[in-house]
Amino acid sequence: MKDKLKSIMDRAISEIASSDDMEKLNAIKVNILGKKGELTDILKGMKDVAAEERPKVGQMVNETRAAIEEKLNEKLEEMKKKLREEQMKAETIDVTLPGKKSELGHKHPNTIALEELLRIFTGLGYEVVDGPEVEKDYYNFEALNIPANHPAKDEQDTFYVTNDIVLRTQTSSVQVHVMEKQKPPYKIISPGRVFRADEVDATHSPSFHQVEGLVIDKNVTFADLKGTLAEFARRMFGPDTKVKFRPHHFPFTEPSAEMDVSCFKCGGKGCRFCKGEGWIEILGCGMVHPHVLEMRGIDPDEYVGFAFGVGLERITLLKYEIDDMRLLYENDVRFLKQF
Ligand code: DAH
Repeated sequence: MKDKLKSIMDRAISEIASSDDMEKLNAIKVNILGKKGELTDILKGMKDVAAEERPKVGQMVNETRAAIEEKLNEKLEEMKKKLREEQMKAETIDVTLPGKKSELGHKHPNTIALEELLRIFTGLGYEVVDGPEVEKDYYNFEALNIPANHPAKDEQDTFYVTNDIVLRTQTSSVQVHVMEKQKPPYKIISPGRVFRADEVDATHSPSFHQVEGLVIDKNVTFADLKGTLAEFARRMFGPDTKVKFRPHHFPFTEPSAEMDVSCFKCGGKGCRFCKGEGWIEILGCGMVHPHVLEMRGIDPDEYVGFAFGVGLERITLLKYEIDDMRLLYENDVRFLKQF
């Protein structure tokens, strides 16, 4: 028995030593240690061994088994190490290869125009605030003096999330949040996305951007409104830009106006760009309606102010002479790169 075990052991050692891949190693393991392996056979033959010899033979078989397993593992580790080394050699990185060039994107013309606008207003001392795009119907309409059955509500048909939650149709709703959160005076500007149930065409989109302005203090007059917006127009469109205020109606301002700027293409003579008018409308504005102040608990005898709402796309299209609003939303890099 002892000799037999020794011969198995010797053969195993020499086979292990000469095997050069994992498959061979595995075959050796199965042949000797496996269910039908030689060592297992010996254990099965234990019943023929004399009872007093059995513990000794059993121990010898186990020792042989352990010794062979150890040899197998040593060889396996050795092979793995060699494999890793070969892999490392094959995978060396050539740091002298030229890098891959990554293309830088380009600012969207809307973003360029907005940054310019914000720079102008922050330069005039305005604070930039943000407001929610998903809004209570109340903030978008009622709190701005547009009651449930007011025709102005129809003009600004929008997307309803529930009966009383809407996608805001105008950034004017931010006025209400500002008045609710802090006491006057205010001097804020609020850019953001607005939504309307409009069909897409060259001048309309169901989603576009506005910039809202609100100034409330003691002794603010319409002259302040005019001066501010005229200065904005000059800084935005050039020092020779003239402005014109036309009476208009907005439920949340009284009096209300729309402001036109002189066409910076023809200087006001009339051209294709301004459709022969010489003037281009860019915003709505007015003195904040006393009722809007009262609803927020602000005394209209003590505080007055003005508000305005600029259509951002309008400014972008004019400034960069783009004739179709849809181009702004297609995100074609060939278009975007031009600005
Ligand atoms: N919210 C108006 C609109 O979407 C624009 C506007 C007009 C805003 C007058 C104002 C304002 O703050 O005073 O047509």
